[in-house]
Amino acid sequence: MNKRLYIETVGCQMNVLDSEMVVADLKRHGYEIVGSPKLADTVLFNTCSVREHAEEKIYSALGKLRQTKERHPEKTIGVLGCMAQKDQQIIFQRAPFVDLVVGPGQLQQIPGLLAKIQAGQGRQIAVSLGRKQGAQEQIRRSHETFDPLRDPSMRPTPFQAYLRIQIGCDKFCTYCVVPMTRGPEQGRSPAQILDEARLLADQGCVEITLLGQTVNSYRHTDASGKTTRLSQLLERLHEIEGLRRLKFVTNYPKDMTVELLRTIRDLPKCSPYLHVPAQSGSDAQLKAMRRGYTVADYLEMMERIERILPQAAVSSDFIVGFCGETEEDFQQTVQLVKRCRFKNSFIFKYSQRAGTKAAERLPDDVPEDVKTRRNHELLAVQDQISLADNQRFVGQAVEVLVEGPSKKSQKIGGDGPLCQMMGRTHCDRIVVFDGNRRQAGQFLSIHVIEATATTLIGRVHTVHQGPEVVSLQEIGLPT
Ligand code: 5AD
Ligand code: SF4
Repeated sequence: MNKRLYIETVGCQMNVLDSEMVVADLKRHGYEIVGSPKLADTVLFNTCSVREHAEEKIYSALGKLRQTKERHPEKTIGVLGCMAQKDQQIIFQRAPFVDLVVGPGQLQQIPGLLAKIQAGQGRQIAVSLGRKQGAQEQIRRSHETFDPLRDPSMRPTPFQAYLRIQIGCDKFCTYCVVPMTRGPEQGRSPAQILDEARLLADQGCVEITLLGQTVNSYRHTDASGKTTRLSQLLERLHEIEGLRRLKFVTNYPKDMTVELLRTIRDLPKCSPYLHVPAQSGSDAQLKAMRRGYTVADYLEMMERIERILPQAAVSSDFIVGFCGETEEDFQQTVQLVKRCRFKNSFIFKYSQRAGTKAAERLPDDVPEDVKTRRNHELLAVQDQISLADNQRFVGQAVEVLVEGPSKKSQKIGGDGPLCQMMGRTHCDRIVVFDGNRRQAGQFLSIHVIEATATTLIGRVHTVHQGPEVVSLQEIGLPT
């Protein structure tokens, strides 16, 4: 049976989750995972369209497979996800040896489409309707969510999982391609979400991260007209035994309500970590981006967070060099970062995307070298803030959910039990310490001895394993 699968995933958490689903589905159809495209009969790329760079990486990876495909025409090559939805037939034109193109709304069709290709029926494409290609309900249905049974072996760690509560986006920020690639915003039903969360908890999951493009705008109205919002969903998820941490990304500033903040404050399992992209500190830019709020609105939201959840860690995204951004606009962004003192920020250079309002109407007029300089400048400001923020923890103990060997240990390789381990605090701060692979999945108390802008470096001081405390020697730790 030629069912060896290699899958590569780029982009956001939604894509990581989509790949988990696709792999779980294909495993049920007899596929096994292999570690390189060379060893595979089927090679799939799950792609991202948010910036041009991400797409170019995929086209270049595809280019590398051209010769392999000439030598092994029986190998199946597929492109999934946002770039598949956005580029559609263009992918076949740019890489004629590709056999399969599948949008994010059609992932459940993959086993059937692969079977058709292998039966000699030629190239297959399955994508959703465009935002103007039908009636609202038709378009919505063509972006149906794909959340079949979950397979713990497919997750990076068995004790953490993503759970999609919302698909698509209706905010139409002028720079963003997501409303086109992932379609209209739709909240999944609370019953489905709760079933999936219970299943995950039964599988040993202790941390669930709820996913949505604007997750705090989540709403679902049932047949009787009853509407559920994120706060009510969190209350119900909080009751599930076994779950210890609930996170949710990404938030939309305007929907960070007092009700939601109070819910997070009152539910100890909810992480006091809020990723709320500001995108810019200039009102003129926010208007051109059609973000739907002003800098004053954003600062008011920060005050609400500070008042209700003073211990919260807030992080943000920024786009520099968006259409018409002047030096003054940019300096206002620098001021916003200094004022808000984010835990961390992801900073991107504006990348024009076909199909967006900005690409249609606004010239991409900030030169590349200016974008690069602004990117570095903002990053340097944020780094200083992150460093000072992390240094507050030196000398303190933090509770960490251990995820596994740190990036450094993964690079060094080796399979002995002792290595540098990595975990995260409830506020999403990354912590590394010398430990033991067997600690993955445990909640440990780590004494912080040093801090960088991105990482807390510490030592284990007590090991919580259920009610009893285990001595360090017992689990083979350096003491
Ligand atoms: N160019 C650069 N960055 C973008 N983002 C979204 N669209 C673009 C674009 N066209 C950024 C935003 C968003 C993050 C996921 O990606 O900051 O919050
Ligand atoms: Fe894109 Fe704006 Fe929707 Fe975020 S809120 S996915 S930036 S359109």
